[in-house]
Amino acid sequence: MQAPAYRYRDNPDAIRALVRPREVHRDVYIDDEVFRLEMEHLFANTWIYAGHASQAPNPGDFITCEIGGQPLLISRHTDGEIYVNYNRCAHKGTRIAGEPCGNAGKMFRCPYHGWAYRTDGSLLSVPLRKGYDGTGFEDTAMVRGLAPVKNFRVYRDFIFVKLNDGGPDFEAFFGDSLSTIDNMVDRSPEGRLILEGAPLRYMHRCNWKMLVENQTDTCHPMVAHESSAGTAVKVWKETGRNDRHPAIELLAPFTSTYKFYEEFGIRVWPNGHGHTGVTDSIHADYSEIPGYWEMMVDAYGEERAKAILGDIRHNTVYFPNIMVKGPIQTLRVFLPLAADRTLVESWTFRLAGAPDQLFARTLLYNRTINAPTSIVGHDDLEMYERIQTGLRADGHEWVNVQRLYDEDEEPDATVVVNGTSERQMRNQFNAWVRFMTQDMTGDMTGDMTGDVDPAAAALNPAPAAGAERPVA
Ligand code: FES
Ligand SMILES: [Fe+2]
Repeated sequence: MQAPAYRYRDNPDAIRALVRPREVHRDVYIDDEVFRLEMEHLFANTWIYAGHASQAPNPGDFITCEIGGQPLLISRHTDGEIYVNYNRCAHKGTRIAGEPCGNAGKMFRCPYHGWAYRTDGSLLSVPLRKGYDGTGFEDTAMVRGLAPVKNFRVYRDFIFVKLNDGGPDFEAFFGDSLSTIDNMVDRSPEGRLILEGAPLRYMHRCNWKMLVENQTDTCHPMVAHESSAGTAVKVWKETGRNDRHPAIELLAPFTSTYKFYEEFGIRVWPNGHGHTGVTDSIHADYSEIPGYWEMMVDAYGEERAKAILGDIRHNTVYFPNIMVKGPIQTLRVFLPLAADRTLVESWTFRLAGAPDQLFARTLLYNRTINAPTSIVGHDDLEMYERIQTGLRADGHEWVNVQRLYDEDEEPDATVVVNGTSERQMRNQFNAWVRFMTQDMTGDMTGDMTGDVDPAAAALNPAPAAGAERPVA
């Protein structure tokens, strides 16, 4: 039967019914309307990573991005501060900056009729301005210049924006999860990261959430990566060499056992954030880089340096769509383009003041694991695209996320669980429902500082027996 149009718009109950405690409906991955609502609600109601301040170190520098379908312009002004505006001329709507990054000099000049804006977005000049005399121009919003994004935050140089008002403030949204960013920054003897080089861009013909879920899916590496990482390790062993090849050192942990992953733990935080690798990690056993330890001891003292470098978290998901690896200094952004299209950007950071060799390892990791030319990333891509087509099959309408489910588990708790649990996936979908629906229900006002009503935050209970489809 043909599905009716607009089943989910303005229908928070239908959205809630897509997520059950142990399973999610396939429409969250394949339905075009759900995707459009994610852009309008989820990506506007949450704090979304937009870029890194080190990409715009000098006045006039800018970067552009798109969040929830909204083109944004991030710039460094002459006062040294970062500003975030909508990338749209106040006149007739022309996109002001067309490039991913650059330097605008003293002003942004619209390429259509030449309206000019200061690098904070305020209106500088309008050609032949006298034509607006007596027209009420001074009373319009245009006279202020580019429309600013009010809610943005630069946290240790990471720029996050929230397009909608209401909802949790920055600290409430991220809470203790910011410790992963802190740890990555603290790994620099100068306490500063420099995002360096262009990202590796990799198009995936699948839904963006599959990539986010995969970041804490620890039951796939020994299966999906057996043919790549497993073969690389086998071939290296056959050479009979005993030294540690830098690439093999990065690849070998992908062949770790179930026991390893079970024991290394997953920590979940409120609002959909979480990380793998609590007590151990695939990044725990890398070779020492000469001179780095001494630099860290000089900068922080021995005890603190040990604590920083001893925190070897694996993948930290910042809900909804980025993943950070502190010990290897990479950040992956999963950019949703359509229900079945996701652009993955994998970025690399240089630790300011640290030896070049560390950054060389970061680049090697990115090329070996995340690049379109890597051997590991292809394994995952193949799985995602098979899921995207497999989900069309009518045999099952629900996707299972119940590994190590406990019916007493509290939504939005901070807790450490078995490393093969799918608890973090359930955590993400719990947040997904809340941030998808909170402004549909008019619940964006008042105190949303993270003190979430457990009843409202709880995953929607399963519909009554026989109610198979989420929407009638
Ligand atoms: S559209 Fe930008 S100046 Fe006219
Ligand atoms: Fe993988």
